[in-house]
Amino acid sequence: MQQRTPLIAGNWKMHKTVDQARETARQLAALAADADGVEAMIAPPFTALAPVAEVLGQGPVRLGAQNLFHEDEGAFTGEVSAPMLVSAGCRYVIIGHSERRQYFGETDRTVNLKIAAALRAGLRPIFCIGESETEREAQKTFSVLDKQVRKGLEGLSLAQLTPLVMAYEPVWAIGTGKAASPQQAQEVHAFVRSLLAEMYDTALAQSVRILYGGSVKPANVRELMALADVDGALVGGASLDAGTFSQLINYRK
Ligand code: PGA
Repeated sequence: MQQRTPLIAGNWKMHKTVDQARETARQLAALAADADGVEAMIAPPFTALAPVAEVLGQGPVRLGAQNLFHEDEGAFTGEVSAPMLVSAGCRYVIIGHSERRQYFGETDRTVNLKIAAALRAGLRPIFCIGESETEREAQKTFSVLDKQVRKGLEGLSLAQLTPLVMAYEPVWAIGTGKAASPQQAQEVHAFVRSLLAEMYDTALAQSVRILYGGSVKPANVRELMALADVDGALVGGASLDAGTFSQLINYRK
């Protein structure tokens, strides 16, 4: 079976001023120094990207953004492009987070454009998918995810998708303290991997990392990371404190 380097990614959402972000990044860089084959990433708000990049330098923790706009430049007031993120030091960008879909009108179509823009600029997209509680109760989980994956990746070729990272984040598990059970997570991750195999090929499906997100904490990280098709975590609340987040990064120790 293919070895996939686990990725523990922190999404700070709309938290931390520049000074607070620098301080947390400084603490984290020290605590994550020797993470035993686990890759770590943090995604601060846009205002803190460049200052945090300076703090992280060439150290073990990588930088990511929480969103981008799909055009490279132009008259798009308030937006930030993929080349701008690269110039600020980002290697990753989170795309299609459920909060973006829910509060900022993002659709499968805009997500698709954003993934293409990230890839064009050499950023690794972390493509988020997930069903709502109502959809799960109505037994629609797999059809919802199927549509999100197919539409999100529409028109993208196998060769383009090598840097792709996926994140399964059931909406009902985000910020609720109610994580998916290991069985629920594994079932969906295996489904997404087989869907990628069907749409592209087995080699791509085996190499794409599929992160789990939704109430990942030090108390449940090991059982989630032990699952065959879970290759890391996308973490909100538990990524804000360097001590707590470093426990996640160091889950193998
Ligand atoms: P949470 O958020 O860890 O606070 O549940 C996860 C996410 O939104 O990525």
